[in-house]
Amino acid sequence: MWLLVLNLVLLVFTVTSSAARYDGPVQCTWLPDNSDTTSSKLSLTCKVKILGEANSLNFSSIPAEVTSRLKIICENDLLYESVLPTQGLQRLHELVNLKIVNCKLLSIDPNSFLGLYNLKQLSINTHNANWGPGKSLELSSLSLTGLKELQVFDLSDNNIRSFPDGTFCSTTNLHTLNITRNRLKNPENFGFNIPECGSSELHNLDASYNNLRSLNEATGFSYLRRLQYLNLSSNNISEISGESLAGLVSLKVINLSNNRIEDLPHGLFAGSRELREIHLQNNSLFSLAKGIFHRLEQLLILDLSGNSLTSNHIDAGTFLGLIRLIVLNLSHNSLTHIDGRTFKDLFFLQILDLRNNSIGFIEDNSFLPLYNLHTLNLAENRLNTIAPLLFNGLFILSKLTLNNNLISSIDVKAFHNCSSLKELDLSSNALDQVPEAIQELTFLKTLDLGENQISDFRNGSFKNLNQLTGLRMIDNNIGNLTAGMLWDLPSLQVLNLAKNKIQGIERDTFKRNTQLEAIRLDENYIGEINGIFATLASLLWLNLSDNHLVWFDYAFIPKNLKWLDIHGNFIEHLGNYYKIQDEIRIKTLDASHNRITEISPMSIANSIELLFINNNFIKTIHPNTFLDKTNLARVDMYANELLNLDLSSLRLSSFPENKSLPEVYLGGNPFHCDCNMEWLQLINNMTDSRQYPKVMDLDNVLCKLTHSNRGMTHLPFNRAKTSDFLCTYETHCFALCHCCDFDACDCEMTCPSGCSCYHDRTWNTNVVDCSSQNAAEIPERIPMDATDVHLDGNKFKALKDHLFIGRKT
Ligand SMILES: *[C@@H]1O[C@H](CO)[C@@H](O)[C@H](O)[C@H]1NC(C)=O
Ligand SMILES: *[C@@H]1O[C@H](CO)[C@@H](O)[C@H](O)[C@H]1NC(C)=O
Ligand SMILES: *[C@@H]1O[C@H](CO)[C@@H](O)[C@H](O)[C@H]1NC(C)=O
Ligand SMILES: *[C@@H]1O[C@H](CO)[C@@H](O)[C@H](O)[C@H]1NC(C)=O
Ligand SMILES: *[C@@H]1O[C@H](CO)[C@@H](O)[C@H](O)[C@H]1NC(C)=O
Ligand SMILES: *[C@@H]1O[C@H](CO)[C@@H](O)[C@H](O)[C@H]1NC(C)=O
Ligand SMILES: *[C@@H]1O[C@H](CO)[C@@H](O)[C@H](O)[C@H]1NC(C)=O
Ligand SMILES: *[C@@H]1O[C@H](CO)[C@@H](O)[C@H](O)[C@H]1NC(C)=O
Ligand SMILES: *[C@@H]1O[C@H](CO)[C@@H](O)[C@H](O)[C@H]1NC(C)=O
Ligand SMILES: *[C@@H]1O[C@H](CO)[C@@H](O)[C@H](O)[C@H]1NC(C)=O
Ligand SMILES: *[C@@H]1O[C@H](CO)[C@@H](O)[C@H](O)[C@H]1NC(C)=O
Ligand SMILES: *[C@@H]1O[C@H](CO)[C@@H](O)[C@H](O)[C@H]1NC(C)=O
Repeated sequence: MWLLVLNLVLLVFTVTSSAARYDGPVQCTWLPDNSDTTSSKLSLTCKVKILGEANSLNFSSIPAEVTSRLKIICENDLLYESVLPTQGLQRLHELVNLKIVNCKLLSIDPNSFLGLYNLKQLSINTHNANWGPGKSLELSSLSLTGLKELQVFDLSDNNIRSFPDGTFCSTTNLHTLNITRNRLKNPENFGFNIPECGSSELHNLDASYNNLRSLNEATGFSYLRRLQYLNLSSNNISEISGESLAGLVSLKVINLSNNRIEDLPHGLFAGSRELREIHLQNNSLFSLAKGIFHRLEQLLILDLSGNSLTSNHIDAGTFLGLIRLIVLNLSHNSLTHIDGRTFKDLFFLQILDLRNNSIGFIEDNSFLPLYNLHTLNLAENRLNTIAPLLFNGLFILSKLTLNNNLISSIDVKAFHNCSSLKELDLSSNALDQVPEAIQELTFLKTLDLGENQISDFRNGSFKNLNQLTGLRMIDNNIGNLTAGMLWDLPSLQVLNLAKNKIQGIERDTFKRNTQLEAIRLDENYIGEINGIFATLASLLWLNLSDNHLVWFDYAFIPKNLKWLDIHGNFIEHLGNYYKIQDEIRIKTLDASHNRITEISPMSIANSIELLFINNNFIKTIHPNTFLDKTNLARVDMYANELLNLDLSSLRLSSFPENKSLPEVYLGGNPFHCDCNMEWLQLINNMTDSRQYPKVMDLDNVLCKLTHSNRGMTHLPFNRAKTSDFLCTYETHCFALCHCCDFDACDCEMTCPSGCSCYHDRTWNTNVVDCSSQNAAEIPERIPMDATDVHLDGNKFKALKDHLFIGRKT
């Protein structure tokens, strides 16, 4: 019903804004057809439950003269059969684009679309498979008669098992046919077996995600002489005969990825000289017929990744004549060595991917002919040494990836010809020093030496690397840093030295690295940072977590730093000796897991947004600690040693309405349910004042009861009552009391000896506990205002008269 109302509203609204008048079916909404700005045609979208029911969409009321686009969407979950309303449809002769989505159709009757002689695009996606495996859409050889302008036909996801021969004979202008996600078993059932339809304009056939098992001579493609794009990916193809693509003389792109093909037979591509791209990734290829790619002189992309090819099948002949090849992907195969002549014709190759093989040996000068190569990936192989002539001739190589090999030595001359290299990844190898060979890479921008065993790191290690912006050396054995070691890197912006063995950093170590923006030094043994970073004006990000720091002072960090992580050290104090606030810009500070005992206004930067000081030994939060933190968003203080907390410790200066209040976490502290702590229970009811943060974990903040009661020793704050927040007293005299010089007077209260007495903030609760005294007499002078008197566990013999006289109940 609401849908209907909505449509009416929309109609009234749009009619006024457009010249066109619409009084079509109520299930439809419409917009001007933007694809054709010259005419005033409409694009209709209709939502129905199913098609063909008596009270469903009335096609006869669709304004035929003005409707050029129509999209019908059935309810996807409704598993009832729809029927094409043939008669209503045939009136729509202005229709250019028709889409029918989710309607569970089982057949398209002959001549269903007769009359749609302007239709160029047709999509029918029933998703019949959701309904049941047996629910297939069936077409007859006459289903498409009349669609002589049809160019793009999307029949994906219809559970179609076969097309009768000649199905596409009448659609003489069809250039794209999408039959992906159906249940076709054999290309013979694609409906193309009639030579008279051989003049078909079909350019693009997508038959991916079907159940094809084999391709052989008899397959129905051979008449598709204009076919340029053929997608047979994600089928179950295991058998291919050498003639299965015969006749596809215009083929440019073939996608056979994600199948189970084991070998490529002789002559497979022989008739398709126009091929630009061959995608064979993720098959089970272990052999390639000799000369399989011969004379594919137009080939640009060859993807053979994710197969089982060995070096016995990749040799000097394999890529012979691929003179235009730009991308060759041999990653994820089983190659063990590379023959020196393998790539000898590939002058234009730009990207060579050999990642994740078992390559242990590459013949000298193997890459010499590849003088256009800019990306070479040799990661995840078994290379031990880099010989002087391995990368010979790679003059324009800009990215070289060698991570996850077994490299322990690199010849000094190895990069002599790679003078254009910008990115070099040598991570996860077995290097024990910074390879001297890199000193020839004067254009290098990023260098990854992480996860090696480098301990030898000294002045001059990075000589000539003036352009280097990123250096990653995480997880090595690097010891103390001294002045001079990094001085050759004036452009350095990002430095990662985490997980090393650094104990000391000499002053001036970073003196020449004025561009540094981010430094990781976490998981080292650094004990002292005074004077090391303070001058790095561009530093924004510093990670010193998990080190051995004891002293911290804001004077140690540079003034533009925004992000600081010092968690997991032995810091006792967030010092601010010079009381600097205006020159600090820290937004995020993680000081958790240290030994901090107190925080005060000066120990937190006023610029702070996120503060983590959980898991410390904090006992004291000074009043107004957060008062000037006007950007505060979150403070984690859980797992500290707070017994008491004054409301003033959390006070903020009035937070603007449009900014959400800071969120505070306080759980895991050993709070006492002291008479001064009652406010915490109510803090989240004070948000209107905009002067206090929200405590997000109030459910988990417990306090220890001063006087254990109801058999409990601890209570969550939000379950405690006012009367649970108690302080002890010995004597008490109310302010308005006049007679307090005498003990017996009603006003002064003295806790009887041997008893414990408690009161809440307002003295509305006054507990006198004299239990378990073993006393024979009831204590005298029980305070007048006592509200709870506990006398159990005694041995009173008799209760005297007038004992409780005057006591309120
Ligand atoms: C469908 O619409 C046409 C034209 O508006 C009208 O004549 C016909 O009665 C309608 N049919 C039904 C079943 O409502
Ligand atoms: C065929 O349709 C699917 C969606 O069902 C789409 O992902 C694919 O790109 C289409 N193929 C072509 C060639 O347009
Ligand atoms: C099949 O390959 C064509 C390009 O050749 C591509 O446009 C289409 O999206 C692919 N189909 C699917 C389902 O990815
Ligand atoms: C090959 O087809 C697969 C669908 O299985 C698709 O994901 C991939 O993008 C296609 N490759 C090309 C180059 O079209
Ligand atoms: C693929 O084909 C094999 C036989 O070649 C068959 O056993 C298997 O069930 C098929 N897999 C699918 C998903 O159809
Ligand atoms: C590889 O192909 C199989 C089907 O042969 C498919 O299940 C799998 O998802 C594909 N893997 C990738 C990474 O595409
Ligand atoms: C090579 O293929 C693998 C796996 O199919 C893919 O992850 C990688 O991106 C491809 N490499 C290039 C350079 O396209
Ligand atoms: C190759 O890749 C597979 C996963 O795709 C991985 O398990 C294996 O470790 C890789 N091989 C090497 C040498 O890294
Ligand atoms: C590098 O290139 C020069 C020519 O510019 C050549 O003489 C030299 O042999 C090449 N190889 C090595 C490893 O130096
Ligand atoms: C490294 O360079 C610094 C600064 O020039 C210098 O003081 C130091 O002595 C040098 N160290 C070595 C071992 O040469
Ligand atoms: C490294 O630095 C620490 C602290 O500065 C010092 O105690 C230690 O002796 C130094 N180690 C070496 C090998 O210089
Ligand atoms: C505090 O607010 C909560 C919910 O916002 C409410 O349930 C509770 O009764 C309030 N407590 C007091 C004492 O006003």
